[in-house]
Amino acid sequence: MLSKAVTRGVFIALIAGGALAHSGVMDATVMARMETMVAMQKQMKLLGQMSKGVTQFDPDTAQTALERIETLANETPETFEVPAEDPMSEARPLIWDEFSAFSQEAEALETLGATLVIESKADLAPAVRQLGQTCKSCHSKYRE
Ligand code: HEC
Repeated sequence: MLSKAVTRGVFIALIAGGALAHSGVMDATVMARMETMVAMQKQMKLLGQMSKGVTQFDPDTAQTALERIETLANETPETFEVPAEDPMSEARPLIWDEFSAFSQEAEALETLGATLVIESKADLAPAVRQLGQTCKSCHSKYRE
């Protein structure tokens, strides 16, 4: 029992570590774009936990997370520009066949991040849902 819990703790620590979770990734460009995505995930988790009441609602923290997502979305086309490959990558080659359509998915997220306003706790759930749909829209086309 105990060892299982410990193992799980280590696993979570690795995921949270980001870079460590990708120790199998050899290509630096692929690593960099994965890190961008992991950073997105981190902000989404922060918003999600606040929405569920796991953490206390703080409008400034929420707004900062939103701005961070906006910036990361802005950086996404650039991080994916080079069609780098790695056995660990989940990026579909379609990205580079239609790079401008791919970039538009990132722009949609950037625009949403800039548009959403989180003033009260009640704003969180719809914001997280809308953001999540935008992530999913890109993933469903361009991620394996
Ligand atoms: C413009 C397209 C696009 C958008 C928008 C996007 N992603 Fe991604 N995401 C990808 C692609 C492509 C990959 C696969 C990258 C690879 O493995 O090389 C990926 C991978 C990931 C990964 C896995 C990273 C890893 O550990 O390997 C996570 C987590 C992730 N995205 C979270 C998010 C979240 C959360 C959002 C929204 C806030 C988001 N993404 C928005 C395209 C996108």
